[in-house]
Order: sequence, then structure tokens, then C-alpha cells
Amino acid sequence: MNSVTVRVPAKVNLQLAVGPLRDDGYHDLVNVFHAVSLFDEVTAAAETGMSVRVEGESADQVPEDDDNLAIRAAVALARHAGRPYGVSLAIRKAIPVAGGMAGGSADAAAALVACNELWGLGLPLDDLMEIAADLGSDVPFALLGGTAVGTGRGERLAPLEVGGTFHWVFALADGGLSTAKVYAECDRIRAADGLAVPEPRAAEPLLAALRAGDAEALGAELANDLQPAALRLRPSLAATLEAGRKHGALGALVSGSGPTCAFLAASAGHAEEVAAALRGAGVAREVLTAHGPVPGPAVV
Ligand code: C5P
Repeated sequence: MNSVTVRVPAKVNLQLAVGPLRDDGYHDLVNVFHAVSLFDEVTAAAETGMSVRVEGESADQVPEDDDNLAIRAAVALARHAGRPYGVSLAIRKAIPVAGGMAGGSADAAAALVACNELWGLGLPLDDLMEIAADLGSDVPFALLGGTAVGTGRGERLAPLEVGGTFHWVFALADGGLSTAKVYAECDRIRAADGLAVPEPRAAEPLLAALRAGDAEALGAELANDLQPAALRLRPSLAATLEAGRKHGALGALVSGSGPTCAFLAASAGHAEEVAAALRGAGVAREVLTAHGPVPGPAVV
């Protein structure tokens, strides 16, 4: 086999409950992940060394060296297999870079699946999951897709049954936000407030809305503890969220650590209406529609 191409979806967080800062610098989370139909494509081709090329949406902001999370994934997989494998990775990006939609994690997950195939390793998902958890908190979900509750730093996953398809609008912002900086800002805001930070808990009404496929109920339950920090670091997002609410979105929130904003719509047609209104309001660099949940990485 000379090359393998894997298509991998972005995620939005439907609930992101952030607990107190842990001693290891991470936070315990309850993280309801939902994979949506915005896809990156990663092609792995046989080569002696390790290299990566990136093209597409904001490709100039993605490192093409050993810092690239997809290359780190390939290196970790080769190490796990105990052989000096090589690969040339080509990433075609559509997921916003540093946008709170786990684009880098998606590329890493896709690289694991593609290299597992290219090198004929035949490793089971459980092995890939372990490697994924070392690469980043969001990489295990990126391997899984669908909808799942993540606990711990987000890497312990329980898949959820979802009773329907949800329709989304995503407002992309200029430039990204650093996940670490958003968590640090969240800690600062909480320290200034001086309130005790409760242990994160899954919101039962949100899980019930997912099980029922009830978009209206889900819209009312969307919640992100990182949103105040993202808004502090990027105040213009407040107008973006407000424009979506004003134009009839069932729910509006910052996706993960931002700055992408996510809006829930009642149907595919309604999503197009909300998207058109957001484009008209001039509150985003680009506006995209998508649906979820969608399956995780797949060889194409
Ligand atoms: O795990 P990952 O490398 O994706 O995390 C990036 C940063 O996000 C971490 O360095 C940490 O600052 C923050 N983070 C956190 N708690 C989590 C996940 C991420 O504080 N559960």
C-alpha cells in the first residue's frame, strides 16, 4: 500500500464543565463532545523519514515541523510499534485552526488511523486510544466521533446514544485562541470572584435532550464554563453570539476554548437562514453550516 487517506470531523462541546485546577496543571472536566460534519483530510504516504505538509483553511498557521500534532501522532505510533517507520503526511484543512473545534486533535487522530493502516499494524482502537490520550486531552474523542461524555481531563469517554441529527451554524473568527491561555484566564476570573469551584457534573436535562433528539431543549441547555474567559480575551465574540440569538438560533455558545461560535438551528433550512443572517450582520470572518453527530475518522 502506497498511501492512505482518512477524513476526520471537527467537534463542538455541548457542555463543558470545568472543575478546579489540578496539581498537574489540568482541570477535571465533564465534556460532552459532539462530532460535526466539518472535515479535515489526512493522507499518509510511504516514505523513509517523517514529514508533513498542510494546505487549506489557515494552513499558514499550522506548524510543518515536529511540533505538528499529526507528526507527533505518527512518531508515537511508530515508537509503540517498536519499528523505525516513516511517513509523509499531507493535511487538507477545513476545520478552523486554534478555533476550539479540535482541528489539531482531529489531524492527530486521522494520522493514527492512516499510519496504522499504511504500516499494516492492525492495532485495535484501544491501543490507539492510549496513544491518543498522551497526545492531548481531545485526541481520544477525535478517534471515536459521534457524541460522548468525556471525564478526567476529557480523555475518559462514554459514548452517548443520540435520538436524531442536529443542525449547526459555525461563525469563524479571525485568528485563534490558545487553549492553555483560555483555561488560565478562566482560573483568573474564578480567583477574582473568590467563589469555590464545584466538581464538574453532567447536566441531566442536556443528556435527556440528546437522547430525545430534541433541538429546542438542547439549545436551552448548551453550556461552556470557558465562555466567560474566551469573551474576556476576545470581547467581539459577544456581538457574534448576540447576532445568532437575535436571528432565531435555538442556542448559542463559544465552541470549546473558542473563538469559533456555535449556533444550534431547528433544521437544515433554518441553519441556512441563521447562517445568512450572520453573514449579513458582518460578525464573523466566515460562516459555515454542518450537522452532527457524525462518525469518527474513516479511510476514504
Ligand atoms: O491536553 P491538551 O494539550 O490539549 O491541553 C492543552 C492545554 O489546555 C493544557 O496545557 C491545559 O492548560 C489546558 N487544559 C486543562 N484541562 C484540561 C484540558 C486542557 O487545563 N482538562
